Amino acid sequence: MSGRCQAGISPVGDSARVNNTAIAASGLRKAYGDRTILDGIDLTIGAGTIFALLGPNGAGKTTTVNVLTTLLKVDGGTARVAGHDIATEPDAVRAAIGVTGQFAAVDDLLTGEENLRLMADLHHLRADESKRVIADLLDRFDLVDAARKQASSYSGGMRRKLDLAMTLVTKPEIIFLDEPTTGLDPRSRRTMWEIVRELTAGGVTIFLTTQYLEEADQLADRIAVLDQGRIVGEGTPDDLKRRVPGSHIRLRFAGITELDAAARILAAATRDDEALTLRVPGDGGTKSLRDLLNRLAEHSVDADEVSVHTPDLDDVFFALTGHATTEAVAQ
Ligand SMILES: Nc1ncnc2c1ncn2[C@@H]1O[C@H](COP(=O)(O)OP(=O)(O)O)[C@@H](O)[C@H]1O
Ligand SMILES: [Mg+2]
Repeated sequence: MSGRCQAGISPVGDSARVNNTAIAASGLRKAYGDRTILDGIDLTIGAGTIFALLGPNGAGKTTTVNVLTTLLKVDGGTARVAGHDIATEPDAVRAAIGVTGQFAAVDDLLTGEENLRLMADLHHLRADESKRVIADLLDRFDLVDAARKQASSYSGGMRRKLDLAMTLVTKPEIIFLDEPTTGLDPRSRRTMWEIVRELTAGGVTIFLTTQYLEEADQLADRIAVLDQGRIVGEGTPDDLKRRVPGSHIRLRFAGITELDAAARILAAATRDDEALTLRVPGDGGTKSLRDLLNRLAEHSVDADEVSVHTPDLDDVFFALTGHATTEAVAQ
């Protein structure tokens, strides 16, 4: 999808560098008939960061990607991608991005190497450059041994890697990965995560969609939770976790005397006499933990054990949307 003729990974483009924003979207709306699919999406994604759009099947993730990559026109709202307006400068947007979809661009009848060469030819790389870039990508993606084999013989993980390698031939500033690990086994998924992390080390911005809470948590600098075409929560993985009720600090005491003393000081706590613990609601942050321990110390009460429970992203999704990710909106 890129019109660039160089290979390798570039730093962020000039326009993105000025305000340090790779993608800025405001009020994106899309409807099919009377059915609203995107219901006012606002996004700001910093250059060189990994952004995850997290949501269940049918939430509108692919529609958002299609809009931002200029494959689909919006009914309302605006967006700039790599500094270019998606509506008025679609060619410039396309020249700056790479897209790896749920349905790979890999040609099964070609070998891995031939797929890469096809990409290089499409983008008019010089022969010597093409050779160098292809060798480099095959090596980086651990596809050297499979290079001369037909893609139809590749495993799911190998196909995803080849698909992403094909995107990189054109040196995109921003890469869209629509559910890059759906259907992959855990080992291939981890390999993919490593590759994504390496890409940002080279300055590339990643926009990924996922249904996997762990994936967003592992990879993303910022996460937006998408539910039925609306963003219902946005922040760092830790921000989101902290916003969910249920964050608490658990204190365990040596005996009932200490527990009694602490319970008098911390009136909001829930006590468990058997476990000799107090559960104190809080935001899971370091300040509230420090305040809590200071209050105990002022009364010369010591806890034997202190642990902070921060909910995982499953809890986050449930808290934000009122339903679990498995209760997906109908396709
Ligand atoms: N061309 C289309 N016509 C009508 N409805 C569509 C079309 N494309 C997608 N949808 C609907 O829009 C909703 C969001 O789809 P999609 O963006 O693919 O979600 P996701 O990628 O999060 O699974 C779904 O309910 C889907 O059925
Ligand atoms: Mg999708």
